[in-house]
Amino acid sequence: MNKTVLITGATSGLGYDFVKLFANDGYNLVLVARSTQKMEEIKQTFKNIKVTIITKDLTRVGAAKEVYEEIEKQGIFIDVLVNNAGYGLMGEFDKLDLQAQVNMIQLNVTALTELTYYFLPKMKEKNSGRILNVASTAAFQPGPLMAVYYATKAYVLSFSEALVEELYNHSITVTTLCPGATKTNFGSVASVEGTKMFSRAMSSESVAKEGYIGLLKGKRVIITGNFNKMGAISAKFLPRSLAAKVAKYVAGEK
Ligand SMILES: NC(=O)c1ccc[n+]([C@@H]2O[C@H](COP(=O)([O-])OP(=O)(O)OC[C@H]3O[C@@H](n4cnc5c(N)ncnc54)[C@H](OP(=O)(O)O)[C@@H]3O)[C@@H](O)[C@H]2O)c1
Repeated sequence: MNKTVLITGATSGLGYDFVKLFANDGYNLVLVARSTQKMEEIKQTFKNIKVTIITKDLTRVGAAKEVYEEIEKQGIFIDVLVNNAGYGLMGEFDKLDLQAQVNMIQLNVTALTELTYYFLPKMKEKNSGRILNVASTAAFQPGPLMAVYYATKAYVLSFSEALVEELYNHSITVTTLCPGATKTNFGSVASVEGTKMFSRAMSSESVAKEGYIGLLKGKRVIITGNFNKMGAISAKFLPRSLAAKVAKYVAGEK
């Protein structure tokens, strides 16, 4: 029987590249995003597998539970959970809209946490499952001008690595994907396309592929691309104050 993967943020960028990778390997798909039309188009593309569409705005309180209840109603077992949906915002913390930043926490942190909470018990019952949480190289240092975004990704990394240890005696893997700048819609949503950090943006296909291979190997943390790996390692050895200054510098215009 085909395995099933649930992918949040399946309609564009990394999420859509994950869709293609899983579909090519015969997984059935559960797609979660806000755009029904794009998900219908995806469903039409992959006629040889079962594609379930759940239109949901995951910034809404209770949305993750509704996703879980829908899956339960349909009797689907989620073998792989890909918590990918997320966005960033560039600007001084107090100048950015507060609600937009709270929604970002709701999506990047709360929905990811809740979906993991709801789907993990069945994986434990079956003693089988894989979880991929999409963080960022932003997870490794404070990020002036994207303060809330960087903090959400630090949460994702810390939460996911803690789960790896909690699940040590289970056949369930938790993988954190930490991409650096990647060519998706993220850049325009976050208004970061013109910044130094985006001058070396990787292709979405290559980042998703690295994540997919690492997930199947059960890797703990994946930092995509050599340049990003070097940056993340450097951030570990720099004093946090200096790492924050570097992050502020790369957030500046090219
Ligand atoms: N691109 C980068 O440079 C980069 C770097 C590091 C980490 N990341 C992380 O990678 C992940 C994927 O982002 P991406 O780069 O692929 O960006 P993207 O192209 O903008 O894709 C974001 C996806 O999330 C969905 N989404 C956005 N808001 C949503 C909401 N409220 N409820 C449900 N779904 C929502 C979008 O679909 P709808 O609009 O249809 O809802 C879309 O499918 C994010 O977690 C991001 O933080 C990206």
